[in-house]
Amino acid sequence: MKIAVSGKGGVGKTTITALLTHSFVKDGLKVIAIDADPDANLAHTLGFPEDVTITPLVELKDLIKERVGAEPGKATVYFKMNPKVDDIPDKFAVKKDNIKLMAMGTIRRGGSGCACPENVMVRQLLSHLLIQRDEVVILDMEAGIEHLGRGTSRFVDQLLVVLEPTNSSIQTFNRIKKLATDLGIKKIIPVANKIKNSDGIERIKKGIESDIWCIIPQTDSLADYNGGVVDENVANEINNLKIKLQKELNNG
Ligand SMILES: Nc1ncnc2c1ncn2[C@@H]1O[C@H](COP(=O)(O)OP(=O)(O)OP(=O)(O)O)[C@@H](O)[C@H]1O
Ligand SMILES: [Mg+2]
Repeated sequence: MKIAVSGKGGVGKTTITALLTHSFVKDGLKVIAIDADPDANLAHTLGFPEDVTITPLVELKDLIKERVGAEPGKATVYFKMNPKVDDIPDKFAVKKDNIKLMAMGTIRRGGSGCACPENVMVRQLLSHLLIQRDEVVILDMEAGIEHLGRGTSRFVDQLLVVLEPTNSSIQTFNRIKKLATDLGIKKIIPVANKIKNSDGIERIKKGIESDIWCIIPQTDSLADYNGGVVDENVANEINNLKIKLQKELNNG
């Protein structure tokens, strides 16, 4: 099961990623959680110890040089396009319970064809995680999904797009939906967060013209969430979302 979580800045992508991760782990599943946001804070939100050190993949310069055969940050013509990566999750992920957490770091832009060594490495690792691993893989994205790229995104089973009841977040949903459809992502799933009242739900429904899969209220228990106990209705909503995602996947 390979899930990516997207949406406008600050809507609750990381919070939803963490809640879902804990929900899968509670069921005894193994999860690889990937912080694909350069401004990484998934470790904190998942409740990892504050002093945990996660070196983002793009900063493992010696490893990238060894595997890709070219120095990160330097333009070069010759390097391996399919470096070995299958040992990386076990060697470099930080672990807690049944969670392996990795961070990608800042991926250099430069057009879809940008073949900098660190981007080659990130793409290869994402492909490996999305195609070859048995674990649940959940990606906490930065706003926008462009950097997933065509090659990788078609292996995402479900793209969750988190929205709050604001026009800008609805616009971002619609933009992401179009982009994701163009990229070949089959299932795009709206998750409403920070809902204060029924007006908020209505506004989102009208703005996105599709069913909302999960409605999370605005609540103090999720303000600066770091893995603690959440309200019962939040736990239920996340549990139902997880079950729906699993069912939808099984029904193909
Ligand atoms: N349902 C909620 N109720 C109250 N606070 C929430 C809720 N969901 C998220 N928050 C808070 O809103 C802030 C933003 O949430 P979060 O970091 O998960 O968003 P994000 O989309 O990942 O942001 P970014 O785009 O910066 O990565 C955090 O302080 C978080 O604790
Ligand atoms: Mg975030």
